[in-house]
Amino acid sequence: MNPLRTLILAAAGNDTVRRVVATAPVSRDVVRRFVAGETTADAIDATSTLIGRGLRVTLDYLGEDTTDRTTAERTVHAYLEALDQLHDVGLAVDAEVSVKLSAVGLALDETLALDNASRICAAAEQAGTTVTLDMEDHTTTDATLRVLAELRRHWPSVGAVLQAYLRRTLDDCRELADTRVRLCKGAYAEPASVAYVDPHQVDLNYVRCANVLLAGSGYPMFATHDPRLIEIIGERARWYDKSVEDFEFQMLYGVRTGEQLHLAAEGHVVRVYVPFGGQWYGYLMRRLAERPANVAFFLRSLVSRS
Ligand code: FDA
Repeated sequence: MNPLRTLILAAAGNDTVRRVVATAPVSRDVVRRFVAGETTADAIDATSTLIGRGLRVTLDYLGEDTTDRTTAERTVHAYLEALDQLHDVGLAVDAEVSVKLSAVGLALDETLALDNASRICAAAEQAGTTVTLDMEDHTTTDATLRVLAELRRHWPSVGAVLQAYLRRTLDDCRELADTRVRLCKGAYAEPASVAYVDPHQVDLNYVRCANVLLAGSGYPMFATHDPRLIEIIGERARWYDKSVEDFEFQMLYGVRTGEQLHLAAEGHVVRVYVPFGGQWYGYLMRRLAERPANVAFFLRSLVSRS
């Protein structure tokens, strides 16, 4: 991971930084670029627009590191409401939801997180769509995969997320290659004992993992904006004789939007990860860390406002 990225992710945990960023009026403008809005109606509007442009969607209700049952319950309700509305407006075929187990109580109790995730999966099934379990920092990987395995007993379509920066991930890909798996590089600050820190090593591992997933009988979902990886995946998919329905590309709301449309116009399935809700701080800091130009954009807005 590059040093600036590590620095921003480390600063994100600092209380003063959190206070300044979370309360600066300019944050709202920057947030608007990466977040669909605060309400379910905002999320449904953004979903409808993206689907109208030939894209698919996975909705994420923002919130993580929930430390009390009331907040976990509120998160579950937000998902149930979003799923109901997706169904009611006829968008559930092209839009699913992504869920962070920490947002539904993983840090409190694994059984609570499983129960809450099960309620979301049941609602998704009723709405006619699917759920993907986001992957968080490496201390939660085993618990997340345990909950995933339990959920899949009832809902085999629940998507897993694996992070190419983790040294363990190639083995996890072999284990899950016959299922629905999103492969991403990984967005958290991880120690070298568990993760590749050199970005080139992460990319190499991404390609190794992509090969394993494409060789399997599952449905790989390649979450990346990296033009080189997108090209390699296209080439490897042809080598494995996969058609455009056999895998999909995924990108984040507000990032490389032109490329999202370009890939869709070429016939690829492209799914956009659309976050919504008021708890945008952790999400925004990870997006700023991914690209120095985003930090510059943020700082420029601060200066022009002051
Ligand atoms: P990389 O960071 O190398 O970026 C490649 C290029 O893409 C950059 O040079 C830039 O042009 C563009 N780009 C990337 N990020 C940008 C940004 N924020 N703003 C502007 N341009 C940007 N992580 C995780 O740990 N757990 C998870 O569950 C998920 N889920 C997930 C879902 C989806 C749909 C996506 C797209 C990503 C995730 N991630 C994630 C995040 C992922 O791990 C990773 O941090 C980001 O996707 C950035 O990595 P890239 O592969 O895009 O490459």
